Amino acid sequence: MLFPAGSWPTDQEDYPAEAPVTTLDLADILDSGLPNPTIQKPKADTTSAAWTLLDEHQRNRAADASLRSRIADRNLMSRTILVTGGAGYIGSHTVVALLERGHDVVIVDNLSNSSPKAIDAIEAITGRSVVFHEVDLTDFEALGTVFEQHPIEAVVHFAGLKAVGESVEKPLWYYRTNLVSTMNLLEQMAAHDVWELVFSSSATVYGDPEVLPIPETAKTSTTNPYGHTKLIIEEICRDLAASDKRWSFSLLRYFNPIGAHRSGELGEDPRGIPNNLVPYVMQVAVGRRDQLEVFGGDWDTHDGSGVRDYIHVVDLAMGHLAALENLEPGCEPFNLGTGTGSSVLEIIKTTENVTGASIPYEIVGRRDGDISTSLADPTKANEKLDWRADRSLDVMLADSWNWQSKHPMGFDDQAE
Ligand code: NAD
Ligand code: WQD
Repeated sequence: MLFPAGSWPTDQEDYPAEAPVTTLDLADILDSGLPNPTIQKPKADTTSAAWTLLDEHQRNRAADASLRSRIADRNLMSRTILVTGGAGYIGSHTVVALLERGHDVVIVDNLSNSSPKAIDAIEAITGRSVVFHEVDLTDFEALGTVFEQHPIEAVVHFAGLKAVGESVEKPLWYYRTNLVSTMNLLEQMAAHDVWELVFSSSATVYGDPEVLPIPETAKTSTTNPYGHTKLIIEEICRDLAASDKRWSFSLLRYFNPIGAHRSGELGEDPRGIPNNLVPYVMQVAVGRRDQLEVFGGDWDTHDGSGVRDYIHVVDLAMGHLAALENLEPGCEPFNLGTGTGSSVLEIIKTTENVTGASIPYEIVGRRDGDISTSLADPTKANEKLDWRADRSLDVMLADSWNWQSKHPMGFDDQAE
Protein backbone atom coordinates (compact mmCIF):
# COMPACT_ATOMS: atom_id res chain seq x y z
CA MET A 1 0.00 0.00 0.00
CA LEU A 2 1.15 3.50 -0.68
CA PHE A 3 0.33 4.80 2.81
CA PRO A 4 -0.18 1.82 5.09
CA ALA A 5 -1.55 2.51 8.57
CA GLY A 6 0.84 4.74 10.50
CA SER A 7 3.16 5.38 7.55
CA TRP A 8 1.75 8.75 6.59
CA PRO A 9 4.60 11.29 6.70
CA THR A 10 4.11 13.64 9.60
CA ASP A 11 4.93 17.28 9.95
CA GLN A 12 6.18 18.24 13.38
CA GLU A 13 4.99 21.80 12.92
CA ASP A 14 1.48 20.60 12.47
CA TYR A 15 1.09 18.21 15.38
CA PRO A 16 1.21 19.52 18.02
CA ALA A 17 0.03 22.57 16.14
CA GLU A 18 1.75 25.90 16.13
CA ALA A 19 1.12 28.37 18.92
CA PRO A 20 -1.78 30.80 18.39
CA VAL A 21 -0.89 32.87 15.36
CA THR A 22 -1.33 36.59 15.32
CA THR A 23 1.41 37.92 13.10
CA LEU A 24 2.76 34.94 11.17
CA ASP A 25 3.46 35.92 7.59
CA LEU A 26 3.35 33.79 4.47
CA ALA A 27 6.83 35.04 3.62
CA ASP A 28 8.18 33.75 6.95
CA ILE A 29 7.05 30.28 6.05
CA LEU A 30 8.22 30.33 2.46
CA ASP A 31 11.57 31.87 3.48
CA SER A 32 12.26 28.83 5.57
CA GLY A 33 12.57 26.90 2.30
CA LEU A 34 10.85 23.79 1.03
CA PRO A 35 10.94 21.08 2.07
CA ASN A 36 10.95 22.58 5.53
CA PRO A 37 13.84 21.18 7.60
CA THR A 38 11.47 20.38 10.48
CA ILE A 39 9.54 17.93 8.34
CA GLN A 40 10.28 14.30 9.02
CA LYS A 41 11.20 12.14 6.06
CA PRO A 42 8.43 9.85 4.82
CA LYS A 43 8.97 6.37 6.14
CA ALA A 44 10.72 3.86 3.92
CA ASP A 45 7.61 2.34 2.37
CA THR A 46 6.18 5.61 1.07
CA THR A 47 6.96 6.93 -2.38
CA SER A 48 7.54 10.21 -4.15
CA ALA A 49 3.75 10.67 -4.18
CA ALA A 50 4.02 11.16 -0.42
CA TRP A 51 6.46 14.00 -0.99
CA THR A 52 4.12 15.55 -3.55
CA LEU A 53 1.32 15.55 -1.00
CA LEU A 54 3.67 16.88 1.63
CA ASP A 55 4.60 19.77 -0.66
CA GLU A 56 0.94 20.52 -1.15
CA HIS A 57 0.46 20.33 2.58
CA GLN A 58 3.20 22.96 3.00
CA ARG A 59 1.35 25.25 0.61
CA ASN A 60 -1.91 24.63 2.44
CA ARG A 61 -0.33 25.46 5.78
CA ALA A 62 1.11 28.61 4.30
CA ALA A 63 -2.30 29.61 2.95
CA ASP A 64 -3.93 28.98 6.35
CA ALA A 65 -1.24 31.01 8.08
CA SER A 66 -1.68 33.78 5.54
CA LEU A 67 -5.44 33.88 6.20
CA ARG A 68 -4.86 33.98 9.97
CA SER A 69 -2.34 36.71 9.43
CA ARG A 70 -4.68 38.82 7.29
CA ILE A 71 -7.40 38.36 9.92
CA ALA A 72 -4.99 39.31 12.68
CA ASP A 73 -4.01 42.46 10.80
CA ARG A 74 -7.62 43.56 10.83
CA ASN A 75 -8.57 42.52 14.31
CA LEU A 76 -6.08 41.54 16.98
CA MET A 77 -8.73 40.88 19.58
CA SER A 78 -9.05 37.41 21.03
CA ARG A 79 -12.56 36.63 22.08
CA THR A 80 -14.56 33.98 23.91
CA ILE A 81 -16.52 31.93 21.41
CA LEU A 82 -19.29 29.46 22.26
CA VAL A 83 -19.22 26.48 19.89
CA THR A 84 -22.33 24.32 20.00
CA GLY A 85 -21.70 20.80 18.70
CA GLY A 86 -17.97 21.42 19.10
CA ALA A 87 -17.24 17.75 19.82
CA GLY A 88 -18.62 16.73 16.42
CA TYR A 89 -16.87 16.30 13.09
CA ILE A 90 -16.87 19.85 11.69
CA GLY A 91 -17.17 21.52 15.10
CA SER A 92 -14.01 19.91 16.48
CA HIS A 93 -11.92 20.97 13.48
CA THR A 94 -13.30 24.49 13.81
CA VAL A 95 -12.46 24.60 17.52
CA VAL A 96 -8.85 23.78 16.59
CA ALA A 97 -8.84 26.69 14.11
CA LEU A 98 -10.35 29.06 16.71
CA LEU A 99 -7.85 28.08 19.40
CA GLU A 100 -4.94 28.39 16.98
CA ARG A 101 -6.20 31.87 16.13
CA GLY A 102 -5.98 32.73 19.83
CA HIS A 103 -9.66 32.71 20.76
CA ASP A 104 -10.95 31.08 23.95
CA VAL A 105 -13.55 28.40 23.30
CA VAL A 106 -16.48 27.07 25.29
CA ILE A 107 -18.01 23.91 23.83
CA VAL A 108 -21.59 22.84 24.47
CA ASP A 109 -22.42 19.36 23.21
CA ASN A 110 -24.68 16.55 24.48
CA LEU A 111 -22.33 13.93 22.92
CA SER A 112 -25.31 12.30 21.18
CA ASN A 113 -23.22 11.89 18.03
CA SER A 114 -19.67 12.44 19.26
CA SER A 115 -17.04 11.32 21.73
CA PRO A 116 -15.37 13.19 24.59
CA LYS A 117 -12.13 11.87 23.09
CA ALA A 118 -12.54 14.47 20.36
CA ILE A 119 -12.06 17.12 23.05
CA ASP A 120 -8.91 15.39 24.31
CA ALA A 121 -7.63 15.36 20.72
CA ILE A 122 -8.38 19.09 20.29
CA GLU A 123 -6.36 19.85 23.41
CA ALA A 124 -3.47 17.59 22.34
CA ILE A 125 -3.33 19.15 18.88
CA THR A 126 -3.48 22.76 20.03
CA GLY A 127 -1.72 22.49 23.37
CA ARG A 128 -4.55 24.58 24.79
CA SER A 129 -7.42 23.75 27.07
CA VAL A 130 -11.04 24.11 26.18
CA VAL A 131 -14.07 24.48 28.41
CA PHE A 132 -16.62 21.74 27.82
CA HIS A 133 -20.23 21.54 29.05
CA GLU A 134 -22.19 18.38 28.40
CA VAL A 135 -25.51 20.11 27.86
CA ASP A 136 -28.45 19.44 25.56
CA LEU A 137 -29.44 22.60 23.72
CA THR A 138 -33.10 21.73 24.07
CA ASP A 139 -32.62 22.35 27.82
CA PHE A 140 -33.18 26.11 28.02
CA GLU A 141 -32.16 26.50 31.66
CA ALA A 142 -28.96 24.46 31.38
CA LEU A 143 -27.94 26.48 28.35
CA GLY A 144 -28.58 29.68 30.27
CA THR A 145 -26.16 28.64 33.01
CA VAL A 146 -23.42 28.28 30.39
CA PHE A 147 -23.98 31.88 29.28
CA GLU A 148 -23.94 32.99 32.92
CA GLN A 149 -20.60 31.28 33.61
CA HIS A 150 -18.60 32.59 30.63
CA PRO A 151 -18.10 35.97 28.95
CA ILE A 152 -19.36 34.69 25.58
CA GLU A 153 -19.03 37.20 22.76
CA ALA A 154 -20.05 35.20 19.68
CA VAL A 155 -21.43 31.77 18.80
CA VAL A 156 -20.70 29.18 16.13
CA HIS A 157 -23.70 26.85 16.00
CA PHE A 158 -23.11 23.29 14.73
CA ALA A 159 -25.24 21.26 17.16
CA GLY A 160 -28.06 19.34 15.57
CA LEU A 161 -29.11 16.17 13.84
CA LYS A 162 -28.01 15.72 10.24
CA ALA A 163 -29.07 12.43 8.67
CA VAL A 164 -31.49 12.96 5.80
CA GLY A 165 -33.01 9.44 5.83
CA GLU A 166 -33.44 9.43 9.60
CA SER A 167 -35.20 12.79 9.40
CA VAL A 168 -37.79 11.31 7.03
CA GLU A 169 -38.44 8.49 9.52
CA LYS A 170 -38.44 10.67 12.65
CA PRO A 171 -39.45 14.17 11.58
CA LEU A 172 -40.66 15.36 15.00
CA TRP A 173 -37.35 14.42 16.60
CA TYR A 174 -35.55 16.45 13.93
CA TYR A 175 -37.82 19.47 14.24
CA ARG A 176 -37.62 19.40 18.03
CA THR A 177 -33.85 18.95 18.19
CA ASN A 178 -32.81 21.36 15.46
CA LEU A 179 -35.47 24.04 15.89
CA VAL A 180 -35.95 24.07 19.67
CA SER A 181 -32.16 24.01 20.15
CA THR A 182 -31.69 26.97 17.87
CA MET A 183 -34.54 28.98 19.36
CA ASN A 184 -33.22 28.35 22.88
CA LEU A 185 -29.79 29.44 21.74
CA LEU A 186 -31.04 32.63 20.11
CA GLU A 187 -33.15 33.55 23.15
CA GLN A 188 -30.24 32.96 25.52
CA MET A 189 -27.95 34.96 23.28
CA ALA A 190 -30.29 37.95 23.29
CA ALA A 191 -30.84 37.61 27.05
CA HIS A 192 -27.06 37.73 27.59
CA ASP A 193 -26.37 40.50 25.09
CA VAL A 194 -24.63 38.27 22.51
CA TRP A 195 -25.58 39.17 18.94
CA GLU A 196 -23.15 37.38 16.61
CA LEU A 197 -23.88 33.93 15.19
CA VAL A 198 -22.26 31.76 12.52
CA PHE A 199 -24.69 29.01 11.56
CA SER A 200 -24.06 25.59 9.94
CA SER A 201 -26.42 25.54 7.02
CA SER A 202 -26.11 23.18 4.07
CA ALA A 203 -26.11 22.95 0.31
CA THR A 204 -29.18 20.80 0.87
CA VAL A 205 -31.15 24.09 0.91
CA TYR A 206 -30.67 24.27 -2.90
CA GLY A 207 -32.61 21.01 -3.47
CA ASP A 208 -32.16 19.87 -7.08
CA PRO A 209 -30.43 22.98 -8.40
CA GLU A 210 -31.50 24.69 -11.61
CA VAL A 211 -28.15 26.48 -12.07
CA LEU A 212 -24.61 25.05 -11.80
CA PRO A 213 -22.36 26.10 -10.16
CA ILE A 214 -24.87 27.28 -7.56
CA PRO A 215 -24.75 30.93 -6.41
CA GLU A 216 -26.25 32.02 -3.08
CA THR A 217 -29.03 33.74 -5.03
CA ALA A 218 -30.30 30.40 -6.40
CA LYS A 219 -33.81 29.30 -5.53
CA THR A 220 -33.98 27.34 -2.27
CA SER A 221 -36.13 24.27 -1.70
CA THR A 222 -35.77 21.06 0.25
CA THR A 223 -37.37 17.65 0.14
CA ASN A 224 -36.87 16.28 3.65
CA PRO A 225 -37.35 17.35 7.30
CA TYR A 226 -33.61 17.79 7.88
CA GLY A 227 -33.38 20.22 4.97
CA HIS A 228 -36.55 21.98 6.12
CA THR A 229 -34.98 22.64 9.54
CA LYS A 230 -32.01 24.33 7.83
CA LEU A 231 -34.27 26.54 5.72
CA ILE A 232 -36.51 27.41 8.69
CA ILE A 233 -33.48 28.36 10.81
CA GLU A 234 -32.15 30.51 7.96
CA GLU A 235 -35.54 32.30 7.89
CA ILE A 236 -35.55 32.76 11.67
CA CYS A 237 -32.11 34.40 11.47
CA ARG A 238 -33.23 36.63 8.60
CA ASP A 239 -36.34 37.73 10.53
CA LEU A 240 -34.33 38.44 13.67
CA ALA A 241 -31.78 40.50 11.76
CA ALA A 242 -34.62 42.54 10.24
CA SER A 243 -36.20 43.07 13.65
CA ASP A 244 -33.13 44.26 15.54
CA LYS A 245 -30.01 45.81 14.02
CA ARG A 246 -27.77 44.40 16.75
CA TRP A 247 -27.89 40.92 15.19
CA SER A 248 -25.15 39.70 12.83
CA PHE A 249 -25.65 36.32 11.15
CA SER A 250 -23.53 34.36 8.73
CA LEU A 251 -25.32 31.36 7.20
CA LEU A 252 -22.66 28.96 5.93
CA ARG A 253 -23.97 26.57 3.30
CA TYR A 254 -21.49 23.69 3.31
CA PHE A 255 -21.14 21.47 0.30
CA ASN A 256 -19.63 18.01 0.99
CA PRO A 257 -17.10 18.11 3.87
CA ILE A 258 -14.56 15.28 3.94
CA GLY A 259 -10.97 14.81 5.15
CA ALA A 260 -9.55 15.00 8.64
CA HIS A 261 -7.02 16.88 10.70
CA ARG A 262 -3.51 16.34 9.42
CA SER A 263 -2.47 14.66 12.69
CA GLY A 264 -4.92 11.81 12.11
CA GLU A 265 -6.22 12.36 15.65
CA LEU A 266 -9.49 14.09 14.68
CA GLY A 267 -11.84 12.94 11.96
CA GLU A 268 -15.32 11.82 11.01
CA ASP A 269 -16.60 8.98 13.20
CA PRO A 270 -20.11 8.05 12.07
CA ARG A 271 -22.17 5.77 14.26
CA GLY A 272 -23.51 2.65 12.54
CA ILE A 273 -23.49 2.30 8.77
CA PRO A 274 -22.19 5.52 7.22
CA ASN A 275 -24.74 7.48 5.17
CA ASN A 276 -22.11 9.48 3.35
CA LEU A 277 -19.84 8.33 0.56
CA VAL A 278 -16.34 8.99 1.87
CA PRO A 279 -16.75 7.49 5.37
CA TYR A 280 -18.19 4.41 3.67
CA VAL A 281 -15.34 4.19 1.16
CA MET A 282 -12.80 4.55 3.99
CA GLN A 283 -14.44 1.72 5.92
CA VAL A 284 -14.12 -0.47 2.81
CA ALA A 285 -10.46 0.58 2.46
CA VAL A 286 -9.72 -0.34 6.07
CA GLY A 287 -11.56 -3.67 5.79
CA ARG A 288 -14.62 -2.91 7.93
CA ARG A 289 -16.97 -3.32 4.94
CA ASP A 290 -16.76 -5.56 1.89
CA GLN A 291 -17.84 -3.30 -0.93
CA LEU A 292 -19.44 -0.01 -1.86
CA GLU A 293 -22.76 0.37 -3.58
CA VAL A 294 -22.64 3.16 -6.13
CA PHE A 295 -26.08 4.74 -6.22
CA GLY A 296 -26.78 5.12 -9.93
CA GLY A 297 -24.57 4.79 -13.00
CA ASP A 298 -26.90 6.63 -15.37
CA TRP A 299 -26.81 10.20 -14.05
CA ASP A 300 -26.29 12.99 -16.55
CA THR A 301 -22.61 13.36 -15.62
CA HIS A 302 -19.33 12.65 -17.43
CA ASP A 303 -19.10 9.06 -16.12
CA GLY A 304 -22.72 8.42 -15.07
CA SER A 305 -22.09 8.58 -11.30
CA GLY A 306 -23.16 11.46 -9.04
CA VAL A 307 -20.95 14.56 -8.85
CA ARG A 308 -20.38 16.58 -5.67
CA ASP A 309 -18.24 19.48 -4.49
CA TYR A 310 -16.05 17.88 -1.80
CA ILE A 311 -14.33 20.30 0.58
CA HIS A 312 -11.59 19.55 3.11
CA VAL A 313 -12.91 19.91 6.66
CA VAL A 314 -9.89 22.05 7.61
CA ASP A 315 -10.63 24.46 4.74
CA LEU A 316 -14.21 24.49 6.01
CA ALA A 317 -13.00 25.22 9.54
CA MET A 318 -10.95 28.14 8.23
CA GLY A 319 -14.11 29.37 6.50
CA HIS A 320 -15.77 29.66 9.92
CA LEU A 321 -12.87 31.71 11.20
CA ALA A 322 -13.17 34.01 8.21
CA ALA A 323 -16.95 34.28 8.60
CA LEU A 324 -16.68 35.03 12.31
CA GLU A 325 -14.12 37.77 11.80
CA ASN A 326 -16.13 39.34 8.96
CA LEU A 327 -19.56 39.34 10.60
CA GLU A 328 -21.60 42.42 9.87
CA PRO A 329 -25.05 43.47 11.08
CA GLY A 330 -27.68 41.67 9.03
CA CYS A 331 -27.88 38.13 7.71
CA GLU A 332 -25.72 36.82 4.85
CA PRO A 333 -25.56 33.34 3.30
CA PHE A 334 -22.21 32.05 2.00
CA ASN A 335 -21.44 28.93 -0.01
CA LEU A 336 -18.45 27.07 1.38
CA GLY A 337 -17.23 24.81 -1.41
CA THR A 338 -14.37 24.55 -3.86
CA GLY A 339 -16.27 25.06 -7.12
CA THR A 340 -14.84 21.76 -8.43
CA GLY A 341 -16.88 18.59 -8.80
CA SER A 342 -15.81 14.96 -8.39
CA SER A 343 -17.82 11.88 -9.27
CA VAL A 344 -18.33 8.79 -7.14
CA LEU A 345 -16.12 6.81 -9.52
CA GLU A 346 -13.38 9.46 -9.23
CA ILE A 347 -13.59 9.23 -5.44
CA ILE A 348 -13.13 5.46 -5.67
CA LYS A 349 -10.15 5.77 -8.04
CA THR A 350 -8.43 8.50 -6.01
CA THR A 351 -8.96 6.55 -2.79
CA GLU A 352 -7.36 3.52 -4.40
CA ASN A 353 -4.41 5.68 -5.45
CA VAL A 354 -3.78 7.23 -2.04
CA THR A 355 -4.49 4.14 0.07
CA GLY A 356 -3.20 1.40 -2.20
CA ALA A 357 -6.30 -0.57 -1.15
CA SER A 358 -8.76 -1.87 -3.69
CA ILE A 359 -12.33 -0.60 -3.33
CA PRO A 360 -14.72 -3.21 -4.72
CA TYR A 361 -17.99 -1.65 -5.84
CA GLU A 362 -21.25 -2.43 -7.54
CA ILE A 363 -23.40 0.04 -9.42
CA VAL A 364 -26.96 -0.22 -8.09
CA GLY A 365 -30.14 1.83 -8.45
CA ARG A 366 -30.34 5.50 -7.53
CA ARG A 367 -30.88 6.44 -3.86
CA ASP A 368 -34.23 8.13 -3.11
CA GLY A 369 -33.94 11.90 -3.10
CA ASP A 370 -30.45 11.96 -4.70
CA ILE A 371 -29.52 14.52 -7.32
CA SER A 372 -27.11 14.32 -10.22
CA THR A 373 -24.73 17.17 -9.45
CA SER A 374 -24.09 19.66 -6.67
CA LEU A 375 -21.42 22.27 -7.21
CA ALA A 376 -20.78 25.53 -5.35
CA ASP A 377 -20.11 28.92 -6.79
CA PRO A 378 -17.86 30.08 -3.91
CA THR A 379 -17.12 33.53 -5.40
CA LYS A 380 -18.98 35.44 -2.69
CA ALA A 381 -17.03 33.77 0.15
CA ASN A 382 -13.77 34.14 -1.80
CA GLU A 383 -14.33 37.86 -2.21
CA LYS A 384 -16.24 38.98 0.90
CA LEU A 385 -14.60 36.66 3.42
CA ASP A 386 -11.17 36.63 1.74
CA TRP A 387 -11.28 32.84 2.04
CA ARG A 388 -10.67 30.03 -0.43
CA ALA A 389 -10.77 26.20 -0.16
CA ASP A 390 -7.54 25.06 -1.78
CA ARG A 391 -6.85 21.55 -0.55
CA SER A 392 -6.94 19.02 -3.40
CA LEU A 393 -9.01 15.85 -3.54
CA ASP A 394 -5.78 13.84 -3.09
CA VAL A 395 -5.05 15.60 0.20
CA MET A 396 -8.67 15.31 1.36
CA LEU A 397 -8.70 11.56 0.82
CA ALA A 398 -5.14 11.01 2.10
CA ASP A 399 -6.10 12.83 5.31
CA SER A 400 -9.33 10.81 5.63
CA TRP A 401 -7.24 7.68 5.21
CA ASN A 402 -4.65 8.80 7.75
CA TRP A 403 -7.43 9.20 10.34
CA GLN A 404 -9.23 5.98 9.36
CA SER A 405 -6.10 3.85 9.28
CA LYS A 406 -4.91 5.17 12.65
CA HIS A 407 -8.37 4.68 14.15
CA PRO A 408 -10.14 1.93 12.22
CA MET A 409 -13.04 1.93 14.70
CA GLY A 410 -13.07 5.70 15.20
CA PHE A 411 -12.56 7.31 18.60
CA ASP A 412 -13.72 4.19 20.42
CA ASP A 413 -10.58 2.22 19.61
CA GLN A 414 -8.26 4.67 21.27
CA ALA A 415 -8.32 3.09 24.68
CA GLU A 416 -6.48 -0.01 23.42
P1 NAD B 1 -21.83 15.87 13.97
O1 NAD B 1 -22.99 15.02 14.27
O2 NAD B 1 -20.49 15.26 13.94
O3 NAD B 1 -21.79 17.13 14.98
C1 NAD B 1 -22.96 17.65 15.57
C2 NAD B 1 -22.71 17.70 17.07
O4 NAD B 1 -23.86 18.24 17.70
C3 NAD B 1 -22.44 16.33 17.69
O5 NAD B 1 -21.27 16.39 18.47
C4 NAD B 1 -23.68 16.06 18.55
O6 NAD B 1 -23.37 15.30 19.70
C5 NAD B 1 -24.12 17.48 18.88
N1 NAD B 1 -25.55 17.60 19.17
C6 NAD B 1 -26.59 17.09 18.47
N2 NAD B 1 -27.74 17.45 19.05
C7 NAD B 1 -27.44 18.20 20.13
C8 NAD B 1 -28.21 18.85 21.14
N3 NAD B 1 -29.54 18.78 21.16
N4 NAD B 1 -27.55 19.53 22.10
C9 NAD B 1 -26.20 19.58 22.13
N5 NAD B 1 -25.43 18.99 21.20
C10 NAD B 1 -26.05 18.30 20.21
O7 NAD B 1 -22.15 16.60 12.58
P2 NAD B 1 -21.19 17.47 11.63
O8 NAD B 1 -21.01 16.71 10.39
O9 NAD B 1 -20.06 17.97 12.38
O10 NAD B 1 -22.21 18.65 11.29
C11 NAD B 1 -22.22 19.83 12.04
C12 NAD B 1 -23.30 20.75 11.50
O11 NAD B 1 -23.06 20.96 10.11
C13 NAD B 1 -24.70 20.17 11.59
O12 NAD B 1 -25.59 21.21 11.92
C14 NAD B 1 -24.98 19.67 10.18
O13 NAD B 1 -26.35 19.70 9.88
C15 NAD B 1 -24.21 20.67 9.35
N6 NAD B 1 -23.80 20.13 8.04
C16 NAD B 1 -23.06 18.99 7.98
C17 NAD B 1 -22.69 18.49 6.74
C18 NAD B 1 -21.91 17.21 6.61
O14 NAD B 1 -21.88 16.62 5.51
N7 NAD B 1 -21.24 16.74 7.66
C19 NAD B 1 -23.06 19.17 5.57
C20 NAD B 1 -23.79 20.34 5.68
C21 NAD B 1 -24.16 20.82 6.93
C1 WQD C 1 -22.37 11.73 -2.28
C2 WQD C 1 -22.51 10.94 -3.58
C3 WQD C 1 -24.44 9.52 -3.63
C4 WQD C 1 -23.10 6.78 -0.47
C5 WQD C 1 -25.57 14.48 2.03
C6 WQD C 1 -26.79 15.21 2.53
C7 WQD C 1 -26.53 16.69 2.56
C8 WQD C 1 -25.24 17.02 3.32
C9 WQD C 1 -24.09 16.17 2.91
C10 WQD C 1 -25.78 17.69 5.53
C11 WQD C 1 -23.93 10.88 -4.11
C12 WQD C 1 -23.18 8.69 -3.67
C13 WQD C 1 -23.20 7.80 -1.38
C14 WQD C 1 -22.94 5.45 -0.96
C15 WQD C 1 -22.95 6.28 -3.20
N1 WQD C 1 -25.37 16.82 4.72
N2 WQD C 1 -23.12 7.56 -2.73
N3 WQD C 1 -22.87 5.27 -2.31
O1 WQD C 1 -25.98 13.08 -0.76
O2 WQD C 1 -24.37 14.87 -1.55
O3 WQD C 1 -25.24 14.95 0.74
O4 WQD C 1 -24.46 14.80 2.90
O5 WQD C 1 -26.24 18.78 5.29
O6 WQD C 1 -27.64 17.26 3.14
O7 WQD C 1 -27.87 14.92 1.66
O8 WQD C 1 -23.60 13.22 0.16
O9 WQD C 1 -21.90 11.57 0.75
O10 WQD C 1 -24.32 10.90 0.92
O11 WQD C 1 -23.30 11.23 -1.34
O12 WQD C 1 -22.88 6.06 -4.42
O13 WQD C 1 -22.86 4.47 -0.19
O14 WQD C 1 -22.15 9.57 -3.31
O15 WQD C 1 -25.42 8.97 -4.47
O16 WQD C 1 -23.86 10.91 -5.51
P1 WQD C 1 -24.88 14.00 -0.45
P2 WQD C 1 -23.27 11.68 0.22
